[in-house]
Amino acid sequence: MRYLLTFVVLSAVALSAPLSTGAQPRNDLSDFMRVKLKHSQKVLEGLVEGNFDVIAKNAQDLSLLSLAETWQVLQTPQYVEYSRKFRQAADQLANDAKNKNLDEATKTFNLVTNRCVECHKYVRDVRMASLD
Ligand code: HEC
Repeated sequence: MRYLLTFVVLSAVALSAPLSTGAQPRNDLSDFMRVKLKHSQKVLEGLVEGNFDVIAKNAQDLSLLSLAETWQVLQTPQYVEYSRKFRQAADQLANDAKNKNLDEATKTFNLVTNRCVECHKYVRDVRMASLD
């Protein structure tokens, strides 16, 4: 039992150690990035329930996240542009919600989702290229 406990504690320490040499420990970045998923799920919840406050709040949070230092993982003009377009879509979504326009908000949420996917595709491509 005691050994098991030691093992669990040591594993936890090992897992929380940074895997990359960047300034950000890997798990902090991961946690930060996962928050985006939480907010998008909340937006979807707001859309299906017709709750504009929930949509607006979470869209705003998404927009703000994209300005955080932790967000700036890649220092390329493309990454900056993907971030800008993402923020624009999130801001538009917040506005649709404030205007209580559920149809527009639903469309804009699709746009936001496209922005997530586009940037992730780009980041994967860059990672693949740097492995070559
Ligand atoms: C401008 C670029 C960009 C946009 C837009 C973007 N992401 Fe990310 N996302 C990243 C980067 C960079 C990572 C970290 C990838 C890595 O290090 O492997 C990441 C990681 C993630 C992760 C994985 C976290 C983990 O390691 O477990 C999730 C989940 C995620 N993003 C969700 C989203 C969602 C949902 C959206 C849209 C609402 C979104 N992202 C929009 C750049 C972006």
